[in-house]
Amino acid sequence: MAIPDPGIAPSGSAGPSGRPRVLSGVQPTGALHLGNWLGAIRNWVDLQDSHDTFFCVVDLHAITVPHEPARLAEDTLSTAALYLACGIDPQRSTVFVQSHVSAHSELCWLLNCVTPLNWLERMIQFKEKALKQGADVSAGLLDYPVLMAADILLYDADRVPVGEDQKQHLELARDIAQQRINARFAPRDGEGEPMPILKVPEPPILREGARVMSLTDGRSKMSKSDPNEGSRIALLDPPELISRKIKRAKTDPQMGLEFGNPERPEADNLLGLYALLAGRSREAATAECAAMGWGTFKPLLAEAAVAALAPLQQRYRELRRDPRYLSEVLQQGRERAGNVAEATLERVRQALGFLPPT
Ligand code: ADP
Ligand code: TRP
Repeated sequence: MAIPDPGIAPSGSAGPSGRPRVLSGVQPTGALHLGNWLGAIRNWVDLQDSHDTFFCVVDLHAITVPHEPARLAEDTLSTAALYLACGIDPQRSTVFVQSHVSAHSELCWLLNCVTPLNWLERMIQFKEKALKQGADVSAGLLDYPVLMAADILLYDADRVPVGEDQKQHLELARDIAQQRINARFAPRDGEGEPMPILKVPEPPILREGARVMSLTDGRSKMSKSDPNEGSRIALLDPPELISRKIKRAKTDPQMGLEFGNPERPEADNLLGLYALLAGRSREAATAECAAMGWGTFKPLLAEAAVAALAPLQQRYRELRRDPRYLSEVLQQGRERAGNVAEATLERVRQALGFLPPT
């Protein structure tokens, strides 16, 4: 039996920098919106100070539903540029494209072969997306969470900041690592103790960030896949369009903005957006807007949104004017990510008993 090399065990609760690892990603499908920013990417920016951070553009996930080949590369680049424009700093974070690191596909295959089919069939997102696809559901759509597990497990991630809708997928990644890889294949050390092969990430944290709701329905979340463009504000929307969308946003007949009234989801959502975008506490925003009519509030919200997005849009334009810089960032990201991922993949290959190439 092969003697495992303890030097290649998971990197414990910290990367080489001594800081806990973070990995997250967004799909390059359509324009990123305020929900993606306020609910996800903004939290990533803060984590850079305290964690060893890896952020990928998950383009392999983007083809699990029918996609346009002519758009994929551009959407991938623009998503990476938006990460940077939002404040992800390539000096402190590893920014890369999922398909550039082939270990993601390979680990996905290895995990596929130990993941029970019925774990995947009960994933809520699969059921919802499959319904939308009708007859043409790909095996890739069912397999989506296993690829996501590979993304996470390759980097020995301690923490995976994701929104509410991704919690079930993170739980699945934990179960695959724990029950299907470590419990079955972990080699023993000299004392007979199992040496885990994969790091099991922390369970999902209840509220990582704000949940931003649709502008046209305060009860459903703002989403890239909503066919109505007016339901969301894209991060690159020009000021006039932002104002127009807010002007048309759904309201209710009551005066005054407030939080927490279940009868008034639109008031709650738009006041929450105002607080986040204007940098006010919820109390301060309530005090300011409690007596305002919608006609006074909406221009104020539009102004706050335009002002909050202006620096980000400016940085985005600068980044897109310098394609060489962006490609260097992704090249460096690919190298750094590839090194970490390859080491993990090798641990799994060894544990599963593959013949090493000579
Ligand atoms: P979408 O649902 O718009 O397609 P994704 O599923 O690609 O967005 O999500 C990318 C990240 O942004 C995830 O971490 C997700 O939880 C977060 N996110 C998406 N929409 C929202 C929202 N409306 N509010 C808060 N976070 C969101
Ligand atoms: N499924 C995630 C989403 O739709 C995107 C994703 C893919 C991801 N791989 C990941 C998020 C790994 C965190 C970690 O938002």
